[in-house]
Amino acid sequence: MILSFVIYDCLVFAYNFQQSIILQLEPFINSKLPEVGTTIFTEMSVLATRHQAINLGQGYPDFMMSEELISLVNDAMRKGHNQYVHMNGLQSLRENICQKIQELYGPVLNPDETITVTPGGTYAIYTALTTVLRPGDEVIVFEPGYDSYIPNIVVNGATPVVLQLSFPDYRIDWEMVKQKITPRTKMIMLNTPHNPTGAVLSDHDIEELKKIVEGTDLMILSDEQRQEIERFQQQKLEIRKELRQVRRNLLSDIDNLGTWLKVINVMLVPLLVALLALGVFVMRNRRRSAT
Ligand SMILES: Cc1ncc(COP(=O)(O)O)c(C=O)c1O
Repeated sequence: MILSFVIYDCLVFAYNFQQSIILQLEPFINSKLPEVGTTIFTEMSVLATRHQAINLGQGYPDFMMSEELISLVNDAMRKGHNQYVHMNGLQSLRENICQKIQELYGPVLNPDETITVTPGGTYAIYTALTTVLRPGDEVIVFEPGYDSYIPNIVVNGATPVVLQLSFPDYRIDWEMVKQKITPRTKMIMLNTPHNPTGAVLSDHDIEELKKIVEGTDLMILSDEQRQEIERFQQQKLEIRKELRQVRRNLLSDIDNLGTWLKVINVMLVPLLVALLALGVFVMRNRRRSAT
């Protein structure tokens, strides 16, 4: 007990000590990115709070967490999952990510060698860029785009080569991309579905991209933070396609039924006339044989 108090006191002391060092150093720290101001997200969110406005600038969830998620996290904590994990991320999580990648795209990846889990997308982008970029490298990046891309390229000593996306469809002009490639180009950064335009890379885009990178050392950093929206959209399209098929089948069934009714109709009238004539004939014959 005493020992734990001592440790706790040490930690508090270390924390306070660190705080005071940071406070003392603050005026002497020169920003590595002096030209990068506060992000537009932060500015807009502060303004929205101040003016009690509806904040469309940042994607705050306006709904509660799912009860299932809350109880799963609770269960995990009760089961003692509060320990350090492997530096690359929890083994079972990495295995699940590999399985998902295989299901979605096909390649079979090794969870121990190819996956690194980070606390959030921004950290992943920073980690990926810091791992591969060297001073003097160029990175092709599209604007408007998620505002952490360019600072993270610059902080690594590389140069962002910006390509503007334009209204109305914000498609990538692959001819322009080809023109911007130089011997220093290290990477093309992509984001699909794209923030903030919502544009999604098409199969044609992927084919064009393949043609550009095939046989080169160019790297692609693909930020697919909103991938699930696209999958949901695709599922909706699939469902719509199936519904359209069901409707088409139904219409053709109705059409077939109509044709049958027409056939029956055409046959029914002569049949009834024939039956009527037969009836009259039989009745007359009966009457004649009775007299
Ligand atoms: C395109 C894009 N990538 C990455 C991120 C960052 O994700 P995270 O909040 O997990 O750091 C965002 C956040 O809005 C984003 O829009």
